[in-house]
Amino acid sequence: MEARLTFVLLLGSIVLTTGKAMNSVIDLDAYFDNVDGNSQERVVGGYDVPADEYVPYQISMQFLTRNGKMRHFCGGSLIAPNRVLTAAHCVNGQNASRISVVAGIRDLEDTSGYRSQVQSYEMNANYEELVTSDIAILKIDPPFEMDGKRVSPIDVSSNELVGADQEVLLSGWGSVFHFGTGPFAKYPTVLQKLSYKTLDNGKCKETMTQLTDTEICALERFGKGACNGDSGGPLVMANGESLKQVGVVSYGTAFCASNSPDVYTRVSMFDAWIKERMA
Ligand SMILES: *[C@@H]1O[C@H](CO)[C@@H](O)[C@H](O)[C@H]1NC(C)=O
Repeated sequence: MEARLTFVLLLGSIVLTTGKAMNSVIDLDAYFDNVDGNSQERVVGGYDVPADEYVPYQISMQFLTRNGKMRHFCGGSLIAPNRVLTAAHCVNGQNASRISVVAGIRDLEDTSGYRSQVQSYEMNANYEELVTSDIAILKIDPPFEMDGKRVSPIDVSSNELVGADQEVLLSGWGSVFHFGTGPFAKYPTVLQKLSYKTLDNGKCKETMTQLTDTEICALERFGKGACNGDSGGPLVMANGESLKQVGVVSYGTAFCASNSPDVYTRVSMFDAWIKERMA
């Protein structure tokens, strides 16, 4: 079997996959000990969310470091006042009491956002890294107050299959440039948006050979796509006048936005699983 470099879109952790991979646990203490004071990472080739505009369902997941700092490490989406949807690889093996979530900001340095504490998380029982079911739900407390502008949930209640060539929108604070913490990485703090299109699963599987039906792909030309730190964040599309979430950022190839598809967990496949965990 060909060894391919696949990449969980989190903080530069590279996983070499030959067949079935173990679900890896990222050592966030070691990561944040090693990076400088300005290591936020974001979407490649997108654009800043304009000043005074919010992506009201966007969540920043933050880790309480040994130095007592709260650092962004994954995205998420608000699906109810007290529930956040994210990727399983963002929480796998992590201590919930060191994770909080922030809503109502477009700039990570904006201190006027709202913070809530993760009480517990549940990963999908079928989660297999880089293979399937990279999805998790966080219970948070206190619940966020919905103000309709800065903080508002996203609809995830659909089991409709989303096909190819649909316009979708990714948002996140992941790297704006290739490859994590290298000398070329750029780490501004304003939320990025990127519009691109879904790709047929069969086509996607030509490159991402481990792809399953529980996933959905999106692709843009070279230089656009998801990157480190976008993990767990939302991919949404229009649904009449409003929006619905169709994907959770899961993984890509080792070099972000290098003309290979981004792989998302296909939210519609987990409709029942999510519903059962909303109460
Ligand atoms: C989880 O983190 C909390 C707060 O930092 C700490 O008190 C607790 O001992 C940690 N639990 C484990 C199992 O590491």
